[in-house]
Amino acid sequence: MTLHRDRDISRESLIADLRAALGKGAVLTGAEIGARHVSDMSATGTAPPFAVLRPRTAAEVSAILRLCHSAGQSVIAQGGMTGLAGGGNPTANDIVISMELLRGIEEIDTVSATMTVKAGTPLEECQQAAADAGLFLALDLGSRGSCQIGGNLSTNAGGIRVIRYGMAREQVLGLEAVLADGTVVSSLNKMLKNNAGYDLKHLFIGSEGTLGIITRAVLRLHPRPAAIATALCGLADDKAIITLLRRAQAELGNVMAFEALWPDYHRHVAQILDVRPFSDDHAFWVILESTAKADDVEAFLAGMIEEGVMQDCAVAQTEAQAHAFWSVRDGHPVDDLPNIVNFDVSLPIMQIGAFAADCHAAIKMRWPSAHCFIYGHIGDSNLHITTSIDYGPGEDMHTVDDLVYGAVKAHSGSISAEHGIGSLKRSYLHLSRSPQELALMRTLKQALDPSGILNPGKVI
Ligand code: LAC
Ligand code: ZN
Repeated sequence: MTLHRDRDISRESLIADLRAALGKGAVLTGAEIGARHVSDMSATGTAPPFAVLRPRTAAEVSAILRLCHSAGQSVIAQGGMTGLAGGGNPTANDIVISMELLRGIEEIDTVSATMTVKAGTPLEECQQAAADAGLFLALDLGSRGSCQIGGNLSTNAGGIRVIRYGMAREQVLGLEAVLADGTVVSSLNKMLKNNAGYDLKHLFIGSEGTLGIITRAVLRLHPRPAAIATALCGLADDKAIITLLRRAQAELGNVMAFEALWPDYHRHVAQILDVRPFSDDHAFWVILESTAKADDVEAFLAGMIEEGVMQDCAVAQTEAQAHAFWSVRDGHPVDDLPNIVNFDVSLPIMQIGAFAADCHAAIKMRWPSAHCFIYGHIGDSNLHITTSIDYGPGEDMHTVDDLVYGAVKAHSGSISAEHGIGSLKRSYLHLSRSPQELALMRTLKQALDPSGILNPGKVI
């Protein structure tokens, strides 16, 4: 009892200090805390934090961390909560820093081709602002409307343009982050080349808020692509997917996206969405996008059919058609099934077909009524597997985790391609990282956050 009372008293005095530093409206407690602060899209978070703070500036984030650091209080930064690895999920003993009011684009520099943006800005707002300035922000993913740039960077998000432009990390030239003790490290570099010592921004990109909290970024912009052709291809087997990928890169060029959909997945989703691009049924679908000239795209695709690499192909004639193809890829009808678990793994590209077949067979053998949907960013060696399983006694999501991650290890893959580790994959990290790599991660964590207040229980 005494312990609890002491804890409650110190929490009350910390909340009072935070209210004094930020203003009353920026500190939410109890019933003021909305359900969206409880869990990311993995739906695995169970408890609200005991407070949610809504800073508007990096200076306010710094003030929060100074106070929490001296109180030994754990803090979790939350963005749009669209993650799938539990990285933003709090416990009842945590304080959440919600970044949504730290929002806005500070500058678009068309000469440097850069955008300086606050962490809480939604990705789609950044994409639109770049387009309005005649430029292109290459980061793109399905949750673009609700995810925030700070979350994209702290998780090193991937998405559908990685094949052409790289991961979120590759879009960053400069970064501002707040350290565990409240120190603001501002490296808002705009130059493509800057080899002056350690490239500190990479400590914060992909470390999921465990080494510091990102408050601003300088993003690299690209020339805006002219028209993008979107083709939906029907193929007979997984080997043909790799052939098509390599031929498209070598002969067509300008491949902007290459997404493959395995049979269970596109049959389930396309039927619900009533998207029927082909007269025949094809085992595999590929969405291929290229900025090559329309005539060249048509000629390449016709050649691939003639050579038997693919069986059929539909090229979107309107934006609405392209949107319909992508709606199958985005697969929202799957979300309505029970007990959804989303996997995000990568494999050496030549093993993807065998890995997918092994996983699918193992899941169906153990749970004959299971759904096992497979799709992914094949150009990046990245597969997603979504399962919906009616678990037996003593089974839960970890039973299927063990099965899939065991297969990933056996095929020398990675347990996380683009979603990060969060809380859900933490106990499997050793399958994809060596003891030496894990020890170096712990050394960095100890150096940057010695009292362990930043997003505890995540990553390592
Ligand atoms: C996607 C998410 C799950 O690619 O990463 O749709
Ligand atoms: Zn993905």
